[in-house]
Formats: sequence, C-alpha cells, structure tokens
Amino acid sequence: METPAGPQSFYALGHSEQELQRLSRQGEVFGPFTRQLFEEAGINQGMRVLDVGCGSGDVAFLAANLVGLSGEVVGVDRERKAVEWATARAHSHGMTNVKFLEGDPAEMEFDRQFDAIVGRLVLMYYPDPVDAIRKLMRHVRPEGLIVFQELDMANARSWPVAPLFERSLTWMKQTLTATGARLQLGLELYPVFLAAGLPGPLMRMDALIGGGPQCAAFEVVAEVIRSLLPVMEKLKIASAAEVGISTLAQRMRDEVIALKGVVLSAGFVGAWSRKRDSD
Ligand SMILES: C[S@@+](CC[C@H](N)C(=O)[O-])C[C@H]1O[C@@H](n2cnc3c(N)ncnc32)[C@H](O)[C@@H]1O
Repeated sequence: METPAGPQSFYALGHSEQELQRLSRQGEVFGPFTRQLFEEAGINQGMRVLDVGCGSGDVAFLAANLVGLSGEVVGVDRERKAVEWATARAHSHGMTNVKFLEGDPAEMEFDRQFDAIVGRLVLMYYPDPVDAIRKLMRHVRPEGLIVFQELDMANARSWPVAPLFERSLTWMKQTLTATGARLQLGLELYPVFLAAGLPGPLMRMDALIGGGPQCAAFEVVAEVIRSLLPVMEKLKIASAAEVGISTLAQRMRDEVIALKGVVLSAGFVGAWSRKRDSD
C-alpha cells in the first residue's frame, strides 16, 4: 500500500473496483440530494458543466441529464482508474454529452470556459479549499455558477445511542481525519466561498434518517469502512477482527431495530454562488 506522504495528500478510500462500485451505490442513495441542489442552483438545459473529482461519474451523469443533449459535462479526476471506469460507464449508457479527463482541474487548462463548476465530496480532500476554488473559478464564465456539496459529519448519529453504530462512525471519522480529509467542510463552505472572492452562497442541507430493515444508512457506513479498512488497520485505529466487516451492516441494523431507534447520515451541505462579472 502507498503510504501517506503528508497529512493532506493521501486519499484513504483508494480506487479499487469495490470502492468505485461503492461510490455508485452511495450515489444512488444520495443522488436525489445532489439533483435537488443542482436544480435549485440553476443547472439546466444547454449548460457546459465541469465536475471536479468525478470518481465513478455519478455526479457528471446527473448533471448530463439536467443539461441535456444541447449541453456538455466534463468530469475530471486525478485518478486514472476512476476516469477509465466513468468513461466505460458513459459508453455503456450510450451517453454522448459527457466525457472524462484525468488530472486536477484546479491545475489544468481548458479550451473554453464553463457555465458551471460542480463537485461533490471533493473539496474536502483539497489541502486548501479556498485556493482550490480560486483556481477553479478561472474556468467559469462571468456570472457562471459554482456549486459544491460537502459533508457535515457531526450530523451522523443514532438515537437512542446505538453503541456499534457510534463506534463505526468514530472509526470512519478518525481514519478520514488522520489522512487530512475535512469532515466539517459543509459548514465551512460559506466562509470558504467568501474567502475565495465569491458572493456569500445560498445553501441547503439534506440527510438520511430512518430505522428498521429498509434503512440504507447501515450499508453506506459499512461500505465506507470496508474501503477504509486497510488504512484503518495501518493507523491502528481498528483491526479487521474488531470491525468484522462481513457482518457489520447487519449487526448495526439489528442493534438499532432492537432499540426501536433511528440513525441519521452525515449532512450533505450544498452551497452555490455566481462568479462576479468583474472577476
Ligand atoms: C469521495 S470521491 C467523490 C466522487 C464523486 N464526486 C461522487 O460524489 O460520487 C472523491 C473523488 O475526488 C477525487 N479527487 C480528490 N482530490 C482531487 C484533486 N485534487 N483533483 C482531482 N480529483 C480529486 C478522488 O480521486 C475521488 O475520486
């Protein structure tokens, strides 16, 4: 395994096939939140959109549906495996208005400006989100949209307290924090946009809540932990034996059902603003 070069440069979830599939399953659960955000922000027909940190491509596909065939979406990820995966999915869906490129869009040049820049769960991995937005803004036309959806991890909890669910959240938070991810960036988006020189953004937050057999939150948490497990073990946050990944989701579900309780996901915080005419 690659070792962390510095506290803010290591992407702990990796890009195994399992992780790329996990991103898509997560995308199905949280997709409606992202769609609502994009519609409210004003992503619509004919727009040219840049998706920062496209991963498996789900956000780009969602944007491609909104912009239609008269629009275009370019998804960019610094990880080649993600770009190849997303490209193969686009081909298999016969989508002609979306393409994927390898790189960090904050450092890249594009032949034309975009009408909008979007990103989900990606600014949290940039060492300096303000600097990243400043650099990304070069790619948007004046009055163009900047839309990001990031986490408020503190929103994730159980009621009444379900010890295994809470322990799982702690493993996840400790591993992500130790590798430099910003788990509260959702709340910080307002000052981050301001510091980047954008007008104060409009915002919304969505989260899952539920209990009982159908609740998707147990699989979402367990699958994140599955992807993080190698790093979690290396950092001695938890061992594979302690985690028991093959039964973790079911054990969390059984615990919450026995308590007749509910669990809440992380908050998905969306923020959007328009680049000033003068910038
Ligand atoms: C948690 S995934 C989210 C993927 C996708 N946006 C979604 O919501 O399904 C974060 C992705 O951002 C990518 N990423 C992180 N930092 C990046 C950077 N500086 N430039 C480009 N991609 C980056 C990672 O490689 C990873 O694929």
